[in-house]
Amino acid sequence: MSNSAQIGVTGLAVMGRNLARNFARNGYTVALHNRTASRTHELVEQFGDEGDFIATETAKEFVAALERPRRLMVMVKAGEPTDAVIQEFAPLLEPGDMIIDGGNAHFADTRRRERELREQGIHFVGTGISGGEEGALHGPSIMPGGSQESYGSLGPMLEKISAKAEDGAPCVTHVGPDGAGHFVKMVHNGIEYADMQLIGEAYQLLRDVAGYSPARIAEIFRTWNTGRLDSYLIEITAEVLAHVDEATGEPFVDVVQDRAEQKGTGRWTVQIALDLGVPVSGIAEAVFARSLSGHAGLREASRGLAGPRATPLGESEAAAFADRVEQALYASKIVSYTQGFHEIAAGGEEYGWDIDLGAVASIWRGGCIIRAAFLDRIRAAYDARPDLPSLLSDETFAQEIAAAQDDWRAVLAAAVHQGVPTPGFAAALAYYDALRAERLPAALTQAQRDYFGAHTYRRTDREGSFHTLWGGDRSQVEA
Ligand code: 6PG
Repeated sequence: MSNSAQIGVTGLAVMGRNLARNFARNGYTVALHNRTASRTHELVEQFGDEGDFIATETAKEFVAALERPRRLMVMVKAGEPTDAVIQEFAPLLEPGDMIIDGGNAHFADTRRRERELREQGIHFVGTGISGGEEGALHGPSIMPGGSQESYGSLGPMLEKISAKAEDGAPCVTHVGPDGAGHFVKMVHNGIEYADMQLIGEAYQLLRDVAGYSPARIAEIFRTWNTGRLDSYLIEITAEVLAHVDEATGEPFVDVVQDRAEQKGTGRWTVQIALDLGVPVSGIAEAVFARSLSGHAGLREASRGLAGPRATPLGESEAAAFADRVEQALYASKIVSYTQGFHEIAAGGEEYGWDIDLGAVASIWRGGCIIRAAFLDRIRAAYDARPDLPSLLSDETFAQEIAAAQDDWRAVLAAAVHQGVPTPGFAAALAYYDALRAERLPAALTQAQRDYFGAHTYRRTDREGSFHTLWGGDRSQVEA
Protein backbone atom coordinates (compact mmCIF):
# COMPACT_ATOMS: atom_id res chain seq x y z
CA MET A 1 0.00 0.00 0.00
CA SER A 2 1.41 3.41 -0.91
CA ASN A 3 1.74 5.84 1.95
CA SER A 4 0.22 8.68 -0.01
CA ALA A 5 -2.85 9.73 1.97
CA GLN A 6 -2.53 13.18 3.51
CA ILE A 7 -5.20 12.35 6.02
CA GLY A 8 -6.98 9.28 7.31
CA VAL A 9 -10.44 9.12 8.82
CA THR A 10 -11.45 6.28 11.11
CA GLY A 11 -15.09 6.09 12.15
CA LEU A 12 -17.28 6.48 9.09
CA ALA A 13 -20.68 7.21 10.57
CA VAL A 14 -22.32 10.24 9.05
CA MET A 15 -19.96 12.93 10.46
CA GLY A 16 -16.79 10.96 9.69
CA ARG A 17 -18.00 10.00 6.24
CA ASN A 18 -18.89 13.57 5.32
CA LEU A 19 -15.62 14.96 6.64
CA ALA A 20 -13.70 12.34 4.65
CA ARG A 21 -15.64 13.37 1.53
CA ASN A 22 -14.99 17.03 2.26
CA PHE A 23 -11.23 16.40 2.43
CA ALA A 24 -11.37 14.39 -0.80
CA ARG A 25 -13.44 17.02 -2.60
CA ASN A 26 -10.77 19.53 -1.65
CA GLY A 27 -8.09 17.51 -3.40
CA TYR A 28 -6.62 15.51 -0.53
CA THR A 29 -6.06 11.78 -0.70
CA VAL A 30 -8.03 10.29 2.18
CA ALA A 31 -7.40 6.91 3.79
CA LEU A 32 -10.56 5.34 5.15
CA HIS A 33 -11.07 2.94 8.03
CA ASN A 34 -14.07 1.70 9.96
CA ARG A 35 -14.60 -1.05 12.51
CA THR A 36 -17.02 -2.67 10.07
CA ALA A 37 -15.20 -2.68 6.75
CA SER A 38 -18.40 -2.82 4.69
CA ARG A 39 -19.07 0.82 5.58
CA THR A 40 -15.67 1.78 4.17
CA HIS A 41 -16.37 0.03 0.88
CA GLU A 42 -19.85 1.52 0.67
CA LEU A 43 -18.38 5.00 0.97
CA VAL A 44 -15.99 4.33 -1.90
CA GLU A 45 -18.73 2.77 -4.02
CA GLN A 46 -21.10 5.67 -3.49
CA PHE A 47 -18.74 8.61 -3.50
CA GLY A 48 -15.49 7.30 -4.99
CA ASP A 49 -15.77 9.68 -7.92
CA GLU A 50 -15.59 12.72 -5.61
CA GLY A 51 -11.84 12.35 -5.04
CA ASP A 52 -9.03 10.02 -4.05
CA PHE A 53 -9.86 7.52 -1.35
CA ILE A 54 -7.79 4.63 -0.08
CA ALA A 55 -10.05 2.02 1.50
CA THR A 56 -8.34 -0.02 4.22
CA GLU A 57 -9.56 -2.87 6.37
CA THR A 58 -7.08 -3.21 9.20
CA ALA A 59 -5.48 -0.71 11.55
CA LYS A 60 -2.06 -1.59 10.11
CA GLU A 61 -3.17 -1.03 6.53
CA PHE A 62 -4.76 2.26 7.53
CA VAL A 63 -1.64 3.58 9.21
CA ALA A 64 0.52 2.36 6.33
CA ALA A 65 -1.59 4.34 3.87
CA LEU A 66 -0.74 7.66 5.51
CA GLU A 67 2.10 9.97 4.51
CA ARG A 68 4.43 11.13 7.30
CA PRO A 69 3.93 12.78 9.67
CA ARG A 70 0.65 10.91 9.78
CA ARG A 71 -2.63 12.72 10.29
CA LEU A 72 -5.20 10.36 11.65
CA MET A 73 -8.66 11.68 12.34
CA VAL A 74 -10.86 9.84 14.83
CA MET A 75 -14.60 10.28 14.35
CA VAL A 76 -16.07 7.88 16.88
CA LYS A 77 -18.29 8.36 19.91
CA ALA A 78 -16.85 10.44 22.75
CA GLY A 79 -15.72 8.61 25.88
CA GLU A 80 -14.62 4.98 25.91
CA PRO A 81 -14.89 4.36 22.16
CA THR A 82 -12.40 7.21 21.60
CA ASP A 83 -9.98 5.75 24.16
CA ALA A 84 -10.32 2.32 22.53
CA VAL A 85 -9.45 3.70 19.10
CA ILE A 86 -6.48 5.62 20.49
CA GLN A 87 -5.21 2.47 22.19
CA GLU A 88 -5.53 0.59 18.94
CA PHE A 89 -3.66 3.12 16.81
CA ALA A 90 -1.14 4.81 19.10
CA PRO A 91 1.24 1.80 19.19
CA LEU A 92 1.39 1.88 15.39
CA LEU A 93 2.36 5.55 15.21
CA GLU A 94 5.68 7.38 15.42
CA PRO A 95 6.82 10.61 17.06
CA GLY A 96 5.52 13.60 15.15
CA ASP A 97 2.32 11.84 14.03
CA MET A 98 -1.03 13.40 14.88
CA ILE A 99 -4.25 11.95 16.19
CA ILE A 100 -7.12 14.35 15.64
CA ASP A 101 -10.26 13.79 17.69
CA GLY A 102 -13.15 15.49 15.91
CA GLY A 103 -15.89 14.26 18.26
CA ASN A 104 -17.65 16.14 21.03
CA ALA A 105 -15.15 15.03 23.68
CA HIS A 106 -15.02 16.47 27.17
CA PHE A 107 -12.04 18.81 27.28
CA ALA A 108 -10.73 17.17 30.46
CA ASP A 109 -10.47 13.85 28.56
CA THR A 110 -8.72 15.71 25.77
CA ARG A 111 -6.22 17.17 28.22
CA ARG A 112 -5.52 13.71 29.61
CA ARG A 113 -5.14 12.11 26.17
CA GLU A 114 -2.92 14.93 24.97
CA ARG A 115 -0.65 14.51 28.00
CA GLU A 116 -0.42 10.75 27.65
CA LEU A 117 0.27 10.80 23.92
CA ARG A 118 2.78 13.63 24.25
CA GLU A 119 4.96 11.19 26.21
CA GLN A 120 5.19 9.11 23.03
CA GLY A 121 5.84 12.20 20.93
CA ILE A 122 2.40 11.94 19.33
CA HIS A 123 0.38 15.13 18.89
CA PHE A 124 -3.18 14.75 20.09
CA VAL A 125 -5.38 17.42 18.56
CA GLY A 126 -8.78 17.66 20.23
CA THR A 127 -10.88 19.45 17.66
CA GLY A 128 -14.35 20.90 18.00
CA ILE A 129 -16.32 20.60 14.79
CA SER A 130 -19.69 22.26 14.38
CA GLY A 131 -22.21 22.30 11.62
CA GLY A 132 -23.87 18.91 11.72
CA GLU A 133 -23.70 16.57 8.76
CA GLU A 134 -24.19 19.28 6.16
CA GLY A 135 -21.41 21.35 7.69
CA ALA A 136 -19.08 18.37 7.78
CA LEU A 137 -19.58 17.93 4.05
CA HIS A 138 -19.74 21.50 2.81
CA GLY A 139 -17.65 23.34 5.40
CA PRO A 140 -17.88 23.25 9.18
CA SER A 141 -16.59 25.64 11.78
CA ILE A 142 -13.49 23.99 13.22
CA MET A 143 -11.99 24.55 16.68
CA PRO A 144 -8.67 22.69 16.97
CA GLY A 145 -6.64 22.55 20.16
CA GLY A 146 -3.31 20.74 20.55
CA SER A 147 0.21 21.91 19.87
CA GLN A 148 1.16 24.84 17.68
CA GLU A 149 3.41 22.45 15.77
CA SER A 150 0.50 20.18 14.87
CA TYR A 151 -1.49 23.17 13.70
CA GLY A 152 1.37 24.08 11.39
CA SER A 153 0.89 20.77 9.60
CA LEU A 154 -2.85 20.42 9.92
CA GLY A 155 -4.04 24.02 9.82
CA PRO A 156 -3.86 24.59 6.06
CA MET A 157 -5.91 21.45 5.43
CA LEU A 158 -8.53 22.43 7.99
CA GLU A 159 -8.65 25.92 6.53
CA LYS A 160 -9.36 24.42 3.14
CA ILE A 161 -12.26 22.22 4.25
CA SER A 162 -13.77 24.74 6.68
CA ALA A 163 -16.69 27.08 6.10
CA LYS A 164 -15.76 30.56 4.95
CA ALA A 165 -17.23 33.65 6.57
CA GLU A 166 -18.78 36.32 4.35
CA ASP A 167 -15.47 38.14 4.11
CA GLY A 168 -13.87 34.91 2.90
CA ALA A 169 -12.01 34.14 6.14
CA PRO A 170 -11.80 30.41 6.94
CA CYS A 171 -13.82 29.44 9.99
CA VAL A 172 -10.92 27.76 11.78
CA THR A 173 -8.24 28.97 14.15
CA HIS A 174 -5.76 27.33 16.47
CA VAL A 175 -7.78 27.94 19.62
CA GLY A 176 -5.00 27.04 22.04
CA PRO A 177 -3.06 24.06 23.41
CA ASP A 178 -4.35 20.70 24.66
CA GLY A 179 -8.10 20.83 25.46
CA ALA A 180 -8.75 24.44 24.38
CA GLY A 181 -10.54 23.44 21.17
CA HIS A 182 -12.95 21.06 22.86
CA PHE A 183 -13.53 23.57 25.64
CA VAL A 184 -14.54 26.23 23.13
CA LYS A 185 -16.76 23.73 21.29
CA MET A 186 -18.41 22.89 24.60
CA VAL A 187 -19.21 26.55 25.25
CA HIS A 188 -20.38 26.89 21.64
CA ASN A 189 -22.92 24.17 22.41
CA GLY A 190 -23.93 25.85 25.67
CA ILE A 191 -24.63 29.04 23.74
CA GLU A 192 -26.49 26.92 21.18
CA TYR A 193 -28.75 25.62 23.97
CA ALA A 194 -29.37 29.17 25.22
CA ASP A 195 -30.09 30.48 21.71
CA MET A 196 -32.57 27.64 21.13
CA GLN A 197 -34.27 28.22 24.48
CA LEU A 198 -34.63 31.97 23.83
CA ILE A 199 -36.05 31.30 20.39
CA GLY A 200 -38.46 28.82 21.98
CA GLU A 201 -39.60 31.40 24.49
CA ALA A 202 -40.12 34.00 21.76
CA TYR A 203 -42.17 31.46 19.83
CA GLN A 204 -44.31 30.61 22.87
CA LEU A 205 -44.98 34.30 23.57
CA LEU A 206 -45.98 34.93 19.96
CA ARG A 207 -48.25 31.91 20.08
CA ASP A 208 -49.89 32.40 23.48
CA VAL A 209 -49.74 36.15 24.08
CA ALA A 210 -49.88 37.51 20.51
CA GLY A 211 -52.17 34.63 19.52
CA TYR A 212 -50.37 33.89 16.24
CA SER A 213 -50.38 30.60 14.35
CA PRO A 214 -47.11 28.74 13.68
CA ALA A 215 -47.33 29.77 10.02
CA ARG A 216 -47.62 33.43 10.97
CA ILE A 217 -44.79 33.11 13.48
CA ALA A 218 -42.70 31.54 10.72
CA GLU A 219 -43.23 34.73 8.71
CA ILE A 220 -42.13 36.85 11.67
CA PHE A 221 -38.98 34.78 12.10
CA ARG A 222 -38.31 35.13 8.40
CA THR A 223 -38.50 38.90 8.75
CA TRP A 224 -36.30 38.85 11.85
CA ASN A 225 -33.78 36.85 9.88
CA THR A 226 -33.27 39.80 7.56
CA GLY A 227 -32.27 42.03 10.49
CA ARG A 228 -29.86 41.92 13.40
CA LEU A 229 -31.11 38.46 14.48
CA ASP A 230 -29.95 37.02 11.14
CA SER A 231 -28.71 33.55 12.05
CA TYR A 232 -28.91 29.89 11.13
CA LEU A 233 -31.09 29.03 14.13
CA ILE A 234 -33.65 31.77 13.32
CA GLU A 235 -33.65 30.62 9.70
CA ILE A 236 -34.36 26.97 10.53
CA THR A 237 -36.94 27.99 13.13
CA ALA A 238 -38.93 29.69 10.36
CA GLU A 239 -38.63 26.52 8.25
CA VAL A 240 -39.76 24.26 11.09
CA LEU A 241 -42.70 26.48 12.02
CA ALA A 242 -43.89 26.71 8.42
CA HIS A 243 -43.82 22.93 8.04
CA VAL A 244 -47.15 21.11 8.07
CA ASP A 245 -47.37 17.48 9.17
CA GLU A 246 -48.35 15.31 6.24
CA ALA A 247 -50.24 12.70 8.24
CA THR A 248 -52.48 15.06 10.22
CA GLY A 249 -52.41 18.34 8.32
CA GLU A 250 -51.50 20.01 11.64
CA PRO A 251 -48.55 22.37 12.12
CA PHE A 252 -45.57 20.03 12.47
CA VAL A 253 -44.50 21.70 15.74
CA ASP A 254 -47.83 20.61 17.27
CA VAL A 255 -47.32 16.92 16.56
CA VAL A 256 -43.84 16.76 18.10
CA GLN A 257 -43.77 15.74 21.77
CA ASP A 258 -42.67 18.66 23.92
CA ARG A 259 -39.77 16.88 25.62
CA ALA A 260 -36.32 18.12 24.67
CA GLU A 261 -33.39 15.78 24.90
CA GLN A 262 -29.69 16.46 25.13
CA LYS A 263 -26.46 14.64 24.55
CA GLY A 264 -24.84 16.62 27.30
CA THR A 265 -22.48 19.29 26.00
CA GLY A 266 -24.75 22.07 27.31
CA ARG A 267 -24.79 20.40 30.70
CA TRP A 268 -20.98 20.24 30.69
CA THR A 269 -20.87 23.97 29.94
CA VAL A 270 -22.85 24.63 33.10
CA GLN A 271 -20.95 22.09 35.22
CA ILE A 272 -17.62 23.62 34.26
CA ALA A 273 -18.97 27.15 34.73
CA LEU A 274 -19.92 26.18 38.28
CA ASP A 275 -16.36 24.98 38.89
CA LEU A 276 -14.92 28.15 37.39
CA GLY A 277 -17.39 30.38 39.26
CA VAL A 278 -18.73 31.94 36.06
CA PRO A 279 -22.42 32.91 36.07
CA VAL A 280 -23.83 31.33 32.92
CA SER A 281 -27.40 31.60 34.17
CA GLY A 282 -28.96 31.81 30.69
CA ILE A 283 -27.24 28.64 29.54
CA ALA A 284 -28.14 26.92 32.82
CA GLU A 285 -31.81 27.85 32.41
CA ALA A 286 -31.72 26.39 28.91
CA VAL A 287 -30.33 23.09 30.23
CA PHE A 288 -32.87 23.03 33.06
CA ALA A 289 -35.72 23.88 30.70
CA ARG A 290 -34.84 20.79 28.66
CA SER A 291 -34.78 18.61 31.76
CA LEU A 292 -38.03 20.06 33.10
CA SER A 293 -39.72 19.35 29.79
CA GLY A 294 -38.72 15.70 30.11
CA HIS A 295 -40.35 15.14 33.50
CA ALA A 296 -43.63 14.00 32.03
CA GLY A 297 -45.06 12.61 35.26
CA LEU A 298 -44.23 15.69 37.27
CA ARG A 299 -45.73 17.93 34.61
CA GLU A 300 -48.86 15.81 34.45
CA ALA A 301 -49.23 15.97 38.22
CA SER A 302 -48.77 19.75 38.19
CA ARG A 303 -51.06 20.67 35.33
CA GLY A 304 -53.95 21.62 37.59
CA LEU A 305 -51.95 24.12 39.67
CA ALA A 306 -53.40 27.59 39.99
CA GLY A 307 -52.26 30.37 37.68
CA PRO A 308 -53.36 32.37 34.67
CA ARG A 309 -53.75 30.96 31.17
CA ALA A 310 -52.70 33.37 28.45
CA THR A 311 -55.41 35.29 26.64
CA PRO A 312 -54.29 36.46 23.22
CA LEU A 313 -54.03 40.17 22.52
CA GLY A 314 -56.05 41.97 19.88
CA GLU A 315 -54.61 42.31 16.37
CA SER A 316 -53.05 45.78 16.66
CA GLU A 317 -51.60 45.14 20.13
CA ALA A 318 -50.26 41.80 18.97
CA ALA A 319 -48.17 43.40 16.22
CA ALA A 320 -46.60 45.85 18.68
CA PHE A 321 -45.99 42.98 21.10
CA ALA A 322 -44.19 41.00 18.40
CA ASP A 323 -41.79 43.92 17.92
CA ARG A 324 -41.13 43.97 21.64
CA VAL A 325 -40.40 40.25 21.62
CA GLU A 326 -37.74 40.88 18.97
CA GLN A 327 -36.09 43.39 21.31
CA ALA A 328 -36.28 41.00 24.27
CA LEU A 329 -34.87 38.14 22.22
CA TYR A 330 -31.99 40.21 20.92
CA ALA A 331 -31.09 41.66 24.32
CA SER A 332 -31.24 38.19 25.95
CA LYS A 333 -29.11 36.76 23.16
CA ILE A 334 -26.41 39.36 23.79
CA VAL A 335 -26.43 38.29 27.45
CA SER A 336 -26.05 34.58 26.54
CA TYR A 337 -23.02 35.33 24.41
CA THR A 338 -21.65 37.60 27.13
CA GLN A 339 -21.87 34.70 29.58
CA GLY A 340 -20.40 32.19 27.12
CA PHE A 341 -17.44 34.41 26.30
CA HIS A 342 -16.88 34.99 30.00
CA GLU A 343 -16.61 31.24 30.48
CA ILE A 344 -14.13 30.92 27.62
CA ALA A 345 -12.02 33.73 29.07
CA ALA A 346 -12.13 32.11 32.52
CA GLY A 347 -11.27 28.66 31.13
CA GLY A 348 -8.42 30.19 29.16
CA GLU A 349 -7.05 31.75 32.31
CA GLU A 350 -7.48 28.63 34.43
CA TYR A 351 -5.71 26.37 31.95
CA GLY A 352 -3.23 28.89 30.53
CA TRP A 353 -4.62 28.75 26.99
CA ASP A 354 -4.43 32.42 26.00
CA ILE A 355 -7.56 32.26 23.84
CA ASP A 356 -8.18 35.07 21.36
CA LEU A 357 -11.87 35.80 21.91
CA GLY A 358 -12.12 37.85 18.71
CA ALA A 359 -10.80 34.87 16.74
CA VAL A 360 -13.38 32.58 18.39
CA ALA A 361 -16.19 34.95 17.39
CA SER A 362 -14.69 35.09 13.93
CA ILE A 363 -14.70 31.32 13.35
CA TRP A 364 -18.30 31.04 14.56
CA ARG A 365 -19.43 33.37 11.78
CA GLY A 366 -19.82 30.52 9.32
CA GLY A 367 -20.45 26.79 9.29
CA CYS A 368 -21.54 26.26 12.87
CA ILE A 369 -24.97 25.95 14.44
CA ILE A 370 -24.79 29.35 16.16
CA ARG A 371 -23.56 31.20 13.10
CA ALA A 372 -25.07 34.64 13.14
CA ALA A 373 -24.53 38.02 11.57
CA PHE A 374 -23.93 39.67 14.92
CA LEU A 375 -20.85 37.52 15.59
CA ASP A 376 -19.05 39.85 13.23
CA ARG A 377 -19.70 42.64 15.68
CA ILE A 378 -18.57 40.53 18.62
CA ARG A 379 -15.36 39.88 16.71
CA ALA A 380 -14.95 43.60 16.06
CA ALA A 381 -15.60 44.40 19.74
CA TYR A 382 -12.86 42.00 20.93
CA ASP A 383 -10.48 42.96 18.15
CA ALA A 384 -10.80 46.61 19.15
CA ARG A 385 -10.39 45.80 22.84
CA PRO A 386 -9.07 42.31 23.62
CA ASP A 387 -9.33 43.10 27.37
CA LEU A 388 -13.02 44.01 27.14
CA PRO A 389 -14.39 43.14 30.62
CA SER A 390 -17.60 41.87 29.06
CA LEU A 391 -19.51 42.18 25.81
CA LEU A 392 -21.93 44.43 27.67
CA SER A 393 -19.09 46.92 28.08
CA ASP A 394 -18.85 47.31 24.33
CA GLU A 395 -20.40 50.65 23.43
CA THR A 396 -22.52 49.42 20.54
CA PHE A 397 -23.97 46.46 22.44
CA ALA A 398 -24.56 48.63 25.52
CA GLN A 399 -26.46 51.13 23.38
CA GLU A 400 -28.56 48.42 21.79
CA ILE A 401 -29.46 46.98 25.17
CA ALA A 402 -30.28 50.45 26.44
CA ALA A 403 -32.68 50.87 23.53
CA ALA A 404 -34.18 47.40 24.02
CA GLN A 405 -34.69 47.35 27.71
CA ASP A 406 -38.12 48.91 28.07
CA ASP A 407 -39.51 46.35 25.66
CA TRP A 408 -37.48 43.56 27.30
CA ARG A 409 -39.04 44.41 30.67
CA ALA A 410 -42.52 44.80 29.16
CA VAL A 411 -42.30 41.37 27.52
CA LEU A 412 -41.23 39.76 30.78
CA ALA A 413 -43.99 41.56 32.66
CA ALA A 414 -46.53 40.25 30.14
CA ALA A 415 -45.09 36.74 30.40
CA VAL A 416 -45.30 36.78 34.20
CA HIS A 417 -48.76 38.26 34.10
CA GLN A 418 -50.05 35.72 31.61
CA GLY A 419 -48.24 32.74 33.09
CA VAL A 420 -45.95 31.98 30.14
CA PRO A 421 -42.65 30.52 31.36
CA THR A 422 -39.68 32.54 30.11
CA PRO A 423 -36.71 31.40 32.20
CA GLY A 424 -34.16 32.39 29.56
CA PHE A 425 -35.41 35.96 29.10
CA ALA A 426 -35.79 36.36 32.86
CA ALA A 427 -32.32 35.01 33.67
CA ALA A 428 -30.78 37.29 31.08
CA LEU A 429 -32.49 40.38 32.46
CA ALA A 430 -31.68 39.45 36.06
CA TYR A 431 -28.02 39.02 35.10
CA TYR A 432 -28.03 42.41 33.42
CA ASP A 433 -29.70 44.11 36.38
CA ALA A 434 -27.38 42.39 38.85
CA LEU A 435 -24.30 43.53 36.97
CA ARG A 436 -25.41 47.13 36.89
CA ALA A 437 -26.69 47.20 40.50
CA GLU A 438 -25.16 49.70 42.87
CA ARG A 439 -25.53 47.29 45.81
CA LEU A 440 -26.40 43.59 45.85
CA PRO A 441 -27.95 41.58 48.68
CA ALA A 442 -24.66 39.69 48.77
CA ALA A 443 -23.87 41.97 51.73
CA LEU A 444 -26.73 40.36 53.63
CA THR A 445 -25.59 36.89 52.55
CA GLN A 446 -22.14 37.57 53.97
CA ALA A 447 -23.64 38.86 57.23
CA GLN A 448 -25.79 35.72 57.52
CA ARG A 449 -22.77 33.50 56.88
CA ASP A 450 -20.91 35.31 59.58
CA TYR A 451 -23.87 34.91 61.93
CA PHE A 452 -24.31 31.18 61.65
CA GLY A 453 -20.83 30.05 60.77
CA ALA A 454 -18.36 32.79 61.72
CA HIS A 455 -17.36 32.94 58.07
CA THR A 456 -16.29 36.61 58.42
CA TYR A 457 -17.01 39.60 56.18
CA ARG A 458 -15.22 42.58 54.71
CA ARG A 459 -16.29 46.14 55.43
CA THR A 460 -16.94 48.91 52.96
CA ASP A 461 -14.99 51.45 55.00
CA ARG A 462 -11.72 49.67 55.90
CA GLU A 463 -9.44 46.80 54.98
CA GLY A 464 -9.41 43.45 56.71
CA SER A 465 -11.70 40.56 57.62
CA PHE A 466 -14.10 40.83 60.52
CA HIS A 467 -16.38 38.69 62.62
CA THR A 468 -19.22 39.90 64.81
CA LEU A 469 -19.77 38.09 68.11
CA TRP A 470 -23.44 37.44 67.28
CA GLY A 471 -24.04 35.13 70.26
CA GLY A 472 -22.34 37.52 72.67
CA ASP A 473 -22.23 41.29 72.96
CA ARG A 474 -22.22 41.74 69.14
CA SER A 475 -18.92 43.50 69.20
CA GLN A 476 -16.70 43.15 66.17
CA VAL A 477 -13.36 41.39 66.16
CA GLU A 478 -10.73 41.38 63.45
CA ALA A 479 -10.47 37.90 62.01
C1 6PG B 1 -22.87 21.26 16.30
C2 6PG B 1 -23.87 20.68 17.24
C3 6PG B 1 -23.64 19.23 17.45
C4 6PG B 1 -24.82 18.53 18.06
C5 6PG B 1 -24.82 18.64 19.55
C6 6PG B 1 -26.09 19.09 20.21
O1 6PG B 1 -22.21 22.19 16.73
O2 6PG B 1 -22.78 20.80 15.17
O3 6PG B 1 -23.78 21.33 18.48
O4 6PG B 1 -22.46 19.09 18.14
O5 6PG B 1 -25.99 18.86 17.46
O6 6PG B 1 -24.47 17.37 19.97
O7 6PG B 1 -26.80 18.03 20.61
P1 6PG B 1 -27.70 17.93 21.91
O8 6PG B 1 -28.77 18.95 21.75
O9 6PG B 1 -28.19 16.53 21.81
O10 6PG B 1 -26.84 18.11 23.11
